Amino acid sequence: MSETDQTRRNFLFAAAGGMGGIAAAATVVPFIGSMLPAADTLAAATTEFDVATVEAGQLVVIQWQGKPVFVVHRTPELLKQVDGHDAMLKDPNSEAIEAVSAEWITPENRKYRAIKPEYLITVASCTHLGCIPLFKPSPGRAEWGDSVPEDWPGGWHCPCHGSLYDVSARVINGSPAPHNLHLMPYKYLSETRVVIG
Ligand code: FES
Repeated sequence: MSETDQTRRNFLFAAAGGMGGIAAAATVVPFIGSMLPAADTLAAATTEFDVATVEAGQLVVIQWQGKPVFVVHRTPELLKQVDGHDAMLKDPNSEAIEAVSAEWITPENRKYRAIKPEYLITVASCTHLGCIPLFKPSPGRAEWGDSVPEDWPGGWHCPCHGSLYDVSARVINGSPAPHNLHLMPYKYLSETRVVIG
């Protein structure tokens, strides 16, 4: 499977509901074509989204303040992949910048980097030079070949310069990216509806 096909397969785009969501839905396809967010999306300070619309094991991209945002529905298997490789990570406890970008982070949710572990919400831009990383969730090389290391725990691969992130979007040692994928302020308005920003 080519990298382009992989990108298409992995990036499922979802329309969000609510006022912020309407802006996201209206601009999500043009974003793919031009990478230029519409002015109304840039103006939206918050984006609402129902995480229940993301199927188990899948990733969608929405927009918040003109930025692409990953929403991943992590299965119990994916959550298990968060553990066991701290020695591979530059910042396993998300200590570098999360104090300012994610006030909701606690000692309990720090490794999951999410208020509800099953739903990871993170800025979809590599912290090296801003490319959108590819979601490669299954561990090992069987599906991804040598684009990932033999001890790949699953996560993201940035094709631009090879940065790697685990399934909590924590950057892996040796990557040119300096930081984990950025988090942002968000909260749950109901069981499954979040407002970002
Ligand atoms: S932009 Fe991702 S590795 Fe350079």
